[in-house]
Amino acid sequence: MTNWTPNSWRDKPISQVPAYPDAAALAEAERQLGTFPPLVFAGEARDLKSKLASVARGDAFLLQGGDCAESFAEHGADHIRDFFRVFLQMAVVLTHGASKPVVKVGRVAGQFAKPRSADTETIDGIELPSYRGDIINSIEFTEGARVPDPDRMLQAYRQSAATLNLLRAFSMGGYAELTRIHEWTVGFMKGSNWYPRYEEVARKIDDAITFMAALGLNPDNTPALRQTSFFTSHEALLLGYEEALTRRDSITNDWYATSGHMLWIGDRTRQPDAAHVEYFAGIKNPIGIKCGPTLSSDDLLRLLDRLNPTDEAGRITLIARFGSDKVHDHLPRLIETVQRAGRTVVWCSDPMHGNTIKASTGYKTRPFERVLSEVKSFFEIHRDMGTYAGGVHIEMTGDDVTECVGGVSAVTEASLSDRYHTYCDPRLNASQALELAFLVAEEVHAQKPPRETRIAGE
Ligand code: PEP
Ligand code: CO
Repeated sequence: MTNWTPNSWRDKPISQVPAYPDAAALAEAERQLGTFPPLVFAGEARDLKSKLASVARGDAFLLQGGDCAESFAEHGADHIRDFFRVFLQMAVVLTHGASKPVVKVGRVAGQFAKPRSADTETIDGIELPSYRGDIINSIEFTEGARVPDPDRMLQAYRQSAATLNLLRAFSMGGYAELTRIHEWTVGFMKGSNWYPRYEEVARKIDDAITFMAALGLNPDNTPALRQTSFFTSHEALLLGYEEALTRRDSITNDWYATSGHMLWIGDRTRQPDAAHVEYFAGIKNPIGIKCGPTLSSDDLLRLLDRLNPTDEAGRITLIARFGSDKVHDHLPRLIETVQRAGRTVVWCSDPMHGNTIKASTGYKTRPFERVLSEVKSFFEIHRDMGTYAGGVHIEMTGDDVTECVGGVSAVTEASLSDRYHTYCDPRLNASQALELAFLVAEEVHAQKPPRETRIAGE
């Protein structure tokens, strides 16, 4: 690690890099960012890492989710609040159903840069550069809008700061108080099939709170009833932005990414000798690695050696995203690789990115049945192999969108166009997200601790 610096990635091969036309303007934007305050603190990232270490041991569960891509256009307080309350509802269903602490990590306050499978996009015979996320260019389909603009990094930073500020207020300032559990339900969800189930969970929690109050524990003297820990994460794709926000922690002298608590490496940029892995090797944050069907066992081992040479628990979360039809072909071999090497990881399922299809109406969608099926297989495989299924990673929103087909809310191919708002991939709507949380809660509840921590003979 002796040769690592926040900019050593610049000497490595890199993919998914935007073609900024004006190098001087890019350098100036990065310089300015380098003078801005950090968005998160190293101590918070360490706190998340220790919580993830307890997930790795089988003592907690990770819930990670949010937009595929945040956008500059959608930045109202209501949008953030609706996301946060559905997230809290999911977390409460999981905590209650699984009887385990839930580590809450949003894809939020920085989730702006998008990897693309093609550099250009053609609509009606016109070919333009692909949209790469609001931090890089605009989604509008005109030549000018698609030119990468470095000043967008400054706007993304400011939006992230404002979003994070509101999320901190929500999680610490009373909104997340458990006694308000009934208020988290978004109006349009009250008609959903699962709503009575949620009310049932909420009622049981009310009873527990009343019981605790009788014992003298209340939100005024018990922080756990009043506030919650909520962390941020995003794909660290745009390395110039990340480098500018990489800072040395004054307590430990270590380098931390301060753009978010947890960063992950996408499935398209995880080549062991390339730029993104180089950047991640030197930061001390907890990190995720997306694992798709093309990840070989050898490369996984090389990544673990490079990114976590001391096998620190909580440092690595492997985010499996194979697709419901491929998960059985790939997850067992990667679990075996990790087991054989005796490495410590959090296993997390992303049941979204391997299940994207094109609907007959042309929309990109994800059949909810496939999402559920991949999650179920994920738990089943871990059960069979004696390992711990530690988390789920989903693309979701608090809004009543129609982007993924299926679920009890019964979005159909024909209704996709009603409220298809995503800037990138199709997200679960609030109702589908809650339905998934109930299923996951059952699976976590049924799960045994990982084999190594079981008492002999069990
Ligand atoms: C994403 O999480 O939005 C994404 C692009 O994922 P992946 O790298 O797994 O394709
Ligand atoms: Co996505």
